[in-house]
Amino acid sequence: MADDIPHGAAGRFSAWQATYITVLGRTEISYSLEGLNVAVAMEKELLCKDFLARPKQLLIDGKWVNAESGKTFEVYNPATEEVIAKVQEGGKADVDKAVRAARKAFETGPWRTMSTAQRQRLLMKLADAIEAHADELAQIETLDNGKPINESRYVDVVQTVETFRYYAGWATKLEGETINANSNFFTYTLREPVGVVGQIIPWNFPMLMAAWKLGPALACGNTVVLKPAEQTPLSALRIGELALEVGFPAGVINIITGFGPDSAGSAISEHMDIDKVAFTGEENTGRIIVKASAGNLKRVSLELGGKAPNIVFADADIDAAVKGAITGIFFNQGQVCCAGSRLFLESKIHDEFMTKLTERVKQIKQGHGLDDKTVIGPQVSKEQQERILNYIDIAQKEGAKLACGGGTPKDLQKGYFVEPTIFTGCTNDMRIAKEEVFGPVLAVIPFKTTEEVAEAANKTTFGLSGAVWTKDVKKAHKLASQIKAGTIWVNCYNAFDPAVPFGGYKMSGYGRELGKHSIELYTNIKSVWVNLAE
Ligand code: NAI
Ligand code: MG
Repeated sequence: MADDIPHGAAGRFSAWQATYITVLGRTEISYSLEGLNVAVAMEKELLCKDFLARPKQLLIDGKWVNAESGKTFEVYNPATEEVIAKVQEGGKADVDKAVRAARKAFETGPWRTMSTAQRQRLLMKLADAIEAHADELAQIETLDNGKPINESRYVDVVQTVETFRYYAGWATKLEGETINANSNFFTYTLREPVGVVGQIIPWNFPMLMAAWKLGPALACGNTVVLKPAEQTPLSALRIGELALEVGFPAGVINIITGFGPDSAGSAISEHMDIDKVAFTGEENTGRIIVKASAGNLKRVSLELGGKAPNIVFADADIDAAVKGAITGIFFNQGQVCCAGSRLFLESKIHDEFMTKLTERVKQIKQGHGLDDKTVIGPQVSKEQQERILNYIDIAQKEGAKLACGGGTPKDLQKGYFVEPTIFTGCTNDMRIAKEEVFGPVLAVIPFKTTEEVAEAANKTTFGLSGAVWTKDVKKAHKLASQIKAGTIWVNCYNAFDPAVPFGGYKMSGYGRELGKHSIELYTNIKSVWVNLAE
């Protein structure tokens, strides 16, 4: 089985490989992952039905409360278009309350005086609780977002658990330094939490984005006001329940469900008593958040869109690269900021590659995410489905040639589905090669030389990621340094680990999440000078 694994991402996150095996039509996941038994079969019963039936409220100051406005909004299952829950529509008044609670918890609560070992233990306990509810959380994520259950279970939940564990470790390892600048002074630095942190997250990896944000912020001793995306608020609420159960003090984690503009999102980014905002989402929303931050000059970190080049040279292992192209663009229905949406193929292998690629893609099973044979689920919302179909239309008008897909699947009457779609004969100037489609749409662009492809790869306003497939190490390393992007994968795609930083160049944002770099986002350095002069 091991030799059938398409990617070389060894270690903790071999769950990604498990997913890939499913993506490529295998239904069996039979190898185990460090600390987690991934061979456990999915429960068939709906483990999240009690959670779905409970009223959903905002988490403020350790209590579940209704929105001040009394308003709620509906949450849909994108596979069936049915309402699965009603959540509170938090707004400015609720964000104000949450910030007051977070401020109090930060300045005077037990969180401040708690030993770092206790903080570490709480984060570990939260990771354990999530792991203990893995199947339930996976179902919540699949019903809310649409993604295939095997991905929810073996990618999102597994990585959420591992991210909390990784940052739990950091809680006890934060250090300042002593500096021998001048013998008349004893000079040292303290690494301190930033304070109250606002976190605005998207709908493509709802639970995992919550973990990427909460993990490091809490490990560093901050308190948080988290706003999940309006399309997918459920898993964050369940994590909020688990956080209270394991003993996080009141006000440390506040969760406000609501919308972005003129709602909870803008209230967070404009708030004068929030010290830092971390955002993942659309490039334009990033700009709005930066402007909104100017009031109190709060710190901002942004993880925005991408238009990643996935470059395949003729000397690559072609079968592996075909798999890499598939997972690069179709994983999570293409709703991935680092999706390999521009496939650069060396001209000599173009036709052979396309034959193999389209053959495989046509076999991919699309359907309801709870069906464990499903490899591609629905898009998250009708809005996203329409946006993607519009891009498919634009691509055809601009002269790209449809190789497969191109519409909605005929056999699925309900749900926001889009067929996995590939266009050949694309140029970098076409809109599908320039703009973030955020769906299962691949633009294939042929190239002849390394110089040409290096230039074309960088001809984008984005710079989140890129990949190179070749057996020539020189070429691989050269391109890895030439591509202006925050992550480069060589002979693999979508490899992740909580220890490895992730973030953008150019308009893909700034700041690095994961690894020790996230610690920088959530701490301040204070220099202390002690006069030793007689
Ligand atoms: P968005 O950026 O508008 O939404 C992401 C989050 O920001 C949500 O929680 C939303 O409520 C919040 N938000 C929206 N407007 C805000 C504002 N003015 N102030 C504060 N918070 C605000 O993304 P959207 O509209 O859901 O998706 C549109 C496109 O954005 C997608 O098609 C995709 O291209 C891109 N996107 C990129 C993501 C990434 O991971 N880089 C994730 C989600 C979307
Ligand atoms: Mg938006």
